[in-house]
Amino acid sequence: MGLTTQQLITWKQQGRSIVALTAWDYGFAQLLDAAGIDLILVGDSLAMVALGYETTLPITLDEMLHHASAVRRGVKRALVVCDLPFLSYQESVSQAIHAAGRVLKETGVQAVKLEGGHPAAIETVSRLSDIGIPVMGHVGLTPQSVHRLGYRQQGTTETDAERILSEAIALSEAGAFAVVLEHIPANLARTITAKLPIPTIGIGAGSDCDGQVLVTADLLGLSEKQPPFAKSYVNLRDIVTQAVSDFSQDVREGKFPEN
Ligand code: KIV
Repeated sequence: MGLTTQQLITWKQQGRSIVALTAWDYGFAQLLDAAGIDLILVGDSLAMVALGYETTLPITLDEMLHHASAVRRGVKRALVVCDLPFLSYQESVSQAIHAAGRVLKETGVQAVKLEGGHPAAIETVSRLSDIGIPVMGHVGLTPQSVHRLGYRQQGTTETDAERILSEAIALSEAGAFAVVLEHIPANLARTITAKLPIPTIGIGAGSDCDGQVLVTADLLGLSEKQPPFAKSYVNLRDIVTQAVSDFSQDVREGKFPEN
């Protein structure tokens, strides 16, 4: 048995930071899990980093199920959470139950994530939690609303900051086991983190969250473009390009294979 949602809540109480990354396939999931990542998110950002779409909107539930199953097969220890994609849960609570149920039943991941903290989302989180489906919330910059909000930092006005704080509290009260805080000011993330009994997982939200998440393609320097708050720890685009061009040269010069 791997990590549980309850374990993450206990770690918040103990002040232990939660380390999270995204994954979209078996190979990377295995590597992240073996490196000791606590939470692996099959984020719908895979629509952009693995499938070449311009936004996260086009990815379907079936595509998410395909990737989540592959990730799940690569993981022994981490908690695996799968994003519910755009329009797989917003129509009604029963649509959300159907989508989240398929995610848990067909992929074996332990939890789902959905975006937003408006009243309809809160009702959905409450119903999913009641029937035993763990839910991670996501407030601040919510990429599924890109055509309304853009990719700008959220919560920069007092009204907006108060709304995001209320949404995070409502998600927690509805039964969410954690909340992603994306691209909001660090002081707002600090306030939310102090008020919630559940962990906050920050991305572009300062260092005072209970944990941090990055899109793995950004961390590894694989993305064509990445948000200003992401950090690349290696430039795999350059390394891969160099390896491929070394191989090409060897083949063209008859140096590979050697006999
Ligand atoms: O889809 C994703 O990768 C995410 C993270 C940015 C939190 O939701």
